[in-house]
Amino acid sequence: MNQEKTTVVQHELFQGDYRLLRVAAPVIGPQVQPGQFVHLRIPRLENAVLRRPFSVFKADAEGLSILYATIGMGTEALNSVQVGEEVCLLGPLGTGFPNLGKNTTTPVLVAGGYGNAALYLQAATLPVKGIAFFGGRTAQDILCVDEFKALGWDVRVATDDGSLGIKGLVTAALDPWLEEQETIQAVEVFSCGPNPMLKAVGDRALDKGFTAWLSMDRNMACGVGACLTCVIKRKTETGWEWARCCKDGPVFNAEEILWED
Ligand SMILES: Cc1cc2nc3c(=O)[nH]c(=O)nc-3n(C[C@H](O)[C@H](O)[C@H](O)COP(=O)(O)OP(=O)(O)OC[C@H]3O[C@@H](n4cnc5c(N)ncnc54)[C@H](O)[C@@H]3O)c2cc1C
Ligand code: FES
Repeated sequence: MNQEKTTVVQHELFQGDYRLLRVAAPVIGPQVQPGQFVHLRIPRLENAVLRRPFSVFKADAEGLSILYATIGMGTEALNSVQVGEEVCLLGPLGTGFPNLGKNTTTPVLVAGGYGNAALYLQAATLPVKGIAFFGGRTAQDILCVDEFKALGWDVRVATDDGSLGIKGLVTAALDPWLEEQETIQAVEVFSCGPNPMLKAVGDRALDKGFTAWLSMDRNMACGVGACLTCVIKRKTETGWEWARCCKDGPVFNAEEILWED
């Protein structure tokens, strides 16, 4: 993990509510593994000392990019950051997605919201391409379909309003496909999105006997495992323990997660 003063090299509307921010980050960029995130100090954010976590969308030797939606004070302030401005990052942080299990023949991605961005590096890196299920409210919320297709993924989309793909939640697209799968070890699921979606995806995968890796979304403060703001309950042989989403996760095996109502 490094702290790096980076320079914004691109900042523009990407699609719908999402903006693309790319920074020159020659220290952090080359170290990023799929599913990891950066903790970003937002310039000129007065009255707020905390950084904000963002999954790395793309990374290379020169830098990295994030895709972010404006939802509150921090992301609103981030909107006004200009190309050439300095942004301080901590990263890469967290435990990201693993590589494919040795028996896996069909990787499956399931994403909602910023999950498409969080899964992009995994999609690019996995040695076998499979099926990607993307869900969102409208067509505008479904990010990077063409890019995932260009990587070789078979993309299936569901939107709440039916403006792209089938009408319904992402599970409306996933369920019929899961029903057709008979072997129990060939499918491995990688998912990122809102927690209710993750629970639905994890439950379905486990019911079928598939391994599922879920990138959990929790509010974070320190981002480095020190403050316990981001804990979830992780099953143990004798009960459960607290696990930190920022350090032990954000990616967890669905089998480990003890969901709370
Ligand atoms: C590991 C991780 C990766 C993330 N990656 C991305 C990404 O790639 N793109 C992206 O757009 N967003 C991502 N997020 C969410 C992003 O961090 C929040 O949107 C951001 O911190 C909100 O900051 P804010 O100051 O604008 O909102 P705030 O003013 O802090 O909050 C506004 C409202 O949103 C709620 N909120 C804040 N953070 C979260 C959260 N993490 N989950 C649910 N509700 C929240 C608050 O409780 C409040 O109700 C990620 C979050 C995590 C934990
Ligand atoms: S955010 Fe501080 S321990 Fe995870």
